[in-house]
Amino acid sequence: MPGSCDCYHFAFAPILPSREDMAATSSSLAEQTTRRRTFAIISHPDAGKTTLTEKLLLYSGLIRTAGMVKNRKGRAATSDWMGMERERGISVTSSAMQFPYKGTVINVLDTPGHEDFSEDTYRTLTAADSAIMVLDAGKGVERQTRKLFEVCKLRGIPVLTFINKLDLPGRDPLDLLTEVEDALGIQACAFNWPVGSGKEFAGVVDRRTREFQLFEKAAAGGAQESALERLPFEDSRVDDRLGAEVAGRVRGELELLEVAGNEYTDEAFLEGRVTPTFFGSALTNFGLEPFFDAFVELAPSPGARLVDLPDGTESRRRTDEPFSAFVFKIQANMDRRHRDCIAFLRICSGRYEPDAMVKHHRLGKAVRLTRPHSIVAQERNTLDEAFPGDVIGLVSRDNFRIGDTLSLDGGFEHKPLPQFQPELFARIEPKAVSMRKRFDKGMKNLIAEGAVQMFHPEDNPRNALSGAVGRLQFEVLQYRLEDEYDVATTMQPMPYTCSAWLKGQRESFQPTTTCLMTKDIHERTVVLFRTDWDKQAAAKNNPEHELLDMA
Ligand code: G4P
Repeated sequence: MPGSCDCYHFAFAPILPSREDMAATSSSLAEQTTRRRTFAIISHPDAGKTTLTEKLLLYSGLIRTAGMVKNRKGRAATSDWMGMERERGISVTSSAMQFPYKGTVINVLDTPGHEDFSEDTYRTLTAADSAIMVLDAGKGVERQTRKLFEVCKLRGIPVLTFINKLDLPGRDPLDLLTEVEDALGIQACAFNWPVGSGKEFAGVVDRRTREFQLFEKAAAGGAQESALERLPFEDSRVDDRLGAEVAGRVRGELELLEVAGNEYTDEAFLEGRVTPTFFGSALTNFGLEPFFDAFVELAPSPGARLVDLPDGTESRRRTDEPFSAFVFKIQANMDRRHRDCIAFLRICSGRYEPDAMVKHHRLGKAVRLTRPHSIVAQERNTLDEAFPGDVIGLVSRDNFRIGDTLSLDGGFEHKPLPQFQPELFARIEPKAVSMRKRFDKGMKNLIAEGAVQMFHPEDNPRNALSGAVGRLQFEVLQYRLEDEYDVATTMQPMPYTCSAWLKGQRESFQPTTTCLMTKDIHERTVVLFRTDWDKQAAAKNNPEHELLDMA
């Protein structure tokens, strides 16, 4: 039926009583919204994001043993979550995972790193209400973390920090806090403090409750939850257990922190000025449960979102208003038998019910969110309802674009999704000249969908370049051009590694000799640079202008 689409709720709960529990204890919209925590985990590859996610499943009672990460070497899965899905029989999508945790409902959004890093990774952050930033205690703030953090900062997303791998010899905790502040421009407030590190890592001190939380080594190297002994700060048993010297040193460090450390307020956290910081070890489970508990306590539940009204003004749409959602990610089906795409929507207000007729703002028509059928993996559960903060997947051939708004009542649009600075550029051309028309049509559609970005050099607009934040985007683009539009292409990488949207007068901007001046599809000026150094030099030469990483 034209205008209809099939709706898949990819939330899942293999331990079904919890799901029923969740529904039974509360079904009011306000209560359901308050219980939700929708967040993304941001980190540099190998800092421990997958391990931490898996341990969250362990502590939520969803899985009984952890350990898939250790065994995954050599597997060819394109997403860490796909590995989890296979190993654990858990239904996970490439986009969101939902499960209960101590009375809350967790929605973890996937932010692929490694080879899967793409603009989608950034866009996913627009669907999150908060983020957990995982740092490797031996490495501190790394490149990919910094980039993802910048997006959180620009979007005003509150960030909690988990400093991981304390069981390995690492850097000084104070150094790490200072690095977070210097590199990211956010105050770090330690909520706990490590007791020793490496082999001597014995636990943490919870600064709020002023108690030592000393860990027993978990059985099977962290596969099971670890036991925790809680002792008051001044308790002499701490000295017996750790030795008077270590206990005294930790008490001294904490006193120093009381005087010199940053102050925490909910307001500063929610405004992105301070990041509550926790030390621990995801692999051995040290510090995890207190961290997860603090996370659900501190992280915000879904709140009102700014929307654009047709008269050009803005308004705040509350979560208790009628159903509305926006598309934050579109996944092309790489399976040749099913050409449909899946559009992932974040619900912002109201209750989602299957079969609802909703208004599609951009297309100006109504679409029906029907029940799922069998295209997507059979084991995936579907839900009869979903609430603000949840993610639903819609299967459709061409109904959706990134940023689209769907709502029951219509008459407004969720804020457009920003574009993010590409760092990879290539000239993609049809192999055969005769395919040019078909190629242009395919590119136009795929760019509208957000597959890659397109830049037209000022001095040669017809010779357009494609830009991406991850290599995978080019691979998907070429695959889809061939599969969906029957156009084989060639790809010539270009020597630019960063870019920026120019804010200020184009005429007075002094480009460096090696940069390329271009226009994006919205006719905004974008400067492509060969190196970061070039970009910094351009910024220095043009103090009246701003070079923006996001538009
Ligand atoms: P990622 O998703 O952020 O990329 O990281 P992931 O969880 O896959 O962890 C990367 C490696 O770091 C894994 O080792 C994992 O076991 C290890 N790791 C994660 N957390 C901790 C921790 O708290 N302590 C220690 N010691 N190791 C941790 P791996 O699969 O064996 O790979 P590798 O060690 O060869 O990199």
